Amino acid sequence: MELDDKSPPTPIKSGKTVAFSNLSYSVTDNQKTTKEPKILLQGLNGVFYPGEMTALMGASGAGKTTLLDVLAGRKTVGTLKGEILLGSSKPTRNQLRHEMGYVEQFDTLVPTLTVQEMLMYTAELKRPMSESLAVKTDIVGHVVKELGLKDVKDTLIGNSLARGVSGGQAKRVNIGLGMLTEPRVLFLDEPTTGLDSATADDVMQLVQTLATKGRTVVCTIHSPSSQVFRCFSKLYLLHLGRCVFFGDPHKQAVPYFESLGYPYLMGDSISDYVVFTTGGGTKGNSGFDFESAYEASPMAEEAKKSFEAVATRMLKEEEVVLESSDSDASQRPFSIGRFLHELRVLLKYRSWSNYKDGQYIGQRLGDKVLFSLILMSLYWGQGGETNVPSMYNTSALLLLLTVLPSYGAAAYVPSLVMERPLFFRERNDGCFYTVSYLIAKAIEEAIISTVFSAYFITVLYFTVDLQGSWFTLLVTFYLTLQCGIMLGYTCGAALPNMETANAVLPTYVTTCLFFMGFFIIIDDVPDGWRWYTNIVHMRYAFQAMMINNYENNENVFLEDKLVLNYYGMDNEGSAWENIAVLFAFYVFFVILAYFALAKLSHVKR
Ligand SMILES: Nc1ncnc2c1ncn2[C@@H]1O[C@H](COP(=O)(O)OP(=O)(O)O)[C@@H](O)[C@H]1O
Ligand SMILES: [Mg+2]
Repeated sequence: MELDDKSPPTPIKSGKTVAFSNLSYSVTDNQKTTKEPKILLQGLNGVFYPGEMTALMGASGAGKTTLLDVLAGRKTVGTLKGEILLGSSKPTRNQLRHEMGYVEQFDTLVPTLTVQEMLMYTAELKRPMSESLAVKTDIVGHVVKELGLKDVKDTLIGNSLARGVSGGQAKRVNIGLGMLTEPRVLFLDEPTTGLDSATADDVMQLVQTLATKGRTVVCTIHSPSSQVFRCFSKLYLLHLGRCVFFGDPHKQAVPYFESLGYPYLMGDSISDYVVFTTGGGTKGNSGFDFESAYEASPMAEEAKKSFEAVATRMLKEEEVVLESSDSDASQRPFSIGRFLHELRVLLKYRSWSNYKDGQYIGQRLGDKVLFSLILMSLYWGQGGETNVPSMYNTSALLLLLTVLPSYGAAAYVPSLVMERPLFFRERNDGCFYTVSYLIAKAIEEAIISTVFSAYFITVLYFTVDLQGSWFTLLVTFYLTLQCGIMLGYTCGAALPNMETANAVLPTYVTTCLFFMGFFIIIDDVPDGWRWYTNIVHMRYAFQAMMINNYENNENVFLEDKLVLNYYGMDNEGSAWENIAVLFAFYVFFVILAYFALAKLSHVKR
């Protein structure tokens, strides 16, 4: 397909009407002892038309984000009553999620990608798999142009640590992500928050172009500048979850509120005037029941009529089934082809950019370089000695080789916790299955740690003169590291915040340490604890390393016993049998991490 400078690669689909009637939404508040439902939205009516740009306003906590979430099918808890219509059909929740472009309040971007890569990455995940890369590239090119991002398309997104694009540019990229699927309805939650007023104007002008081209645009906004406010053709004003105004902000708002007895001072901003009048304080402060006044007004009558009109039109134009597309992961049953596609895209963009990131490599390689140097100088040549102290020392070193990668996994937790909002956003947007994300992560870590583990083990094996097979030792170390990484991922996904996640993992590893058969020999562990030694994965790693190192040792005795006999490991199978058990633990930890990621969500909405 040729990309003509003037026309988009595919014609922009015109918007769809969003209509809702008697919409109420409540949640049960778990924090309160009374299990009374908390009503967040009540009796809302309204219609948003294609080509129109509606401002959704209200004091903070009024329910703006909640309304957008409900209309976009993003709510996961709570009770929803009322009717929502989209175009000429009654959509299911998944259809809502699919049809609405939703630009959330907080930018969730991948800091290690450039603007162009971020858009391509998302396009590859969100657009149909069957579409060629050339078409996707065209669409991204068009979005880049439409959003005025041409000059920064090769700039890294960056974050607070690494400088990247500016706040306004990041916001535009975020809007671009919402546009990649060419949604007919676009919701934006506070797109100007955190931007200076000139940048906010730019962003809003851009959003306005999207509406002029026929999309249905709804945008929540806080104290807009007068220039921004002028972009809106409709205002939907909320107060404590109820509608207090729905109409033309420029023609109807001032006369309406003046008729209720609230004079407007010439020169004041209309947006501030309406927000302060209705909800700046609480209902008690102003003492006036704006909700009932609105209910009795012609505007409310109008909103209901508009809804009826949309509903009747819907009945006339037979039920149109929303076209299904394969671009929304949440909507499809699992398919291997799709899974492999997601895996490829995740590895191509995310993992590859991580491998090029110094901080990422540093976190994973730094401790191994440092420890290898210290341990090498401490244990130089001792593995080949046959005296009793060397024997104890070497056993202790092997213990360290199983413990260090387990503790080291704590270093992986912060990045995962920080990435969580991004993960939830992408999953909500239907970018990938949870399992694709986790397996891509596991492969990413597994590949990079092959190199680092080989370095670490090779250095120690030869300088310390360890016995047994180099390869067996390497595999054991490598698997222990993979187990640690998956435990780190489980903690990062399951625990509410970074502090807890960072504390829990080392505590768990330390308790494992007691039961590995070194500080207390397994045979001496009291009966009540014996069962526990069987589920400590690090114990099998230690045994594999010990058996590998000492199985051919016939001439060193500890208290008249051969080393393995002394540690009670002579009946614990071969090194590879222990490695097999360790591998089974790895598989178990991957499954555990999957459930933590898939089932526990710390982003309640
Ligand atoms: N899942 C939830 N459980 C309990 N309270 C919620 C939930 N979601 C939102 N709320 C509450 O609903 C109110 C409206 O929130 P929100 O829609 O985010 O307001 P805003 O208008 O600032 O976007 C707030 O008081 C918020 O605390
Ligand atoms: Mg909000």
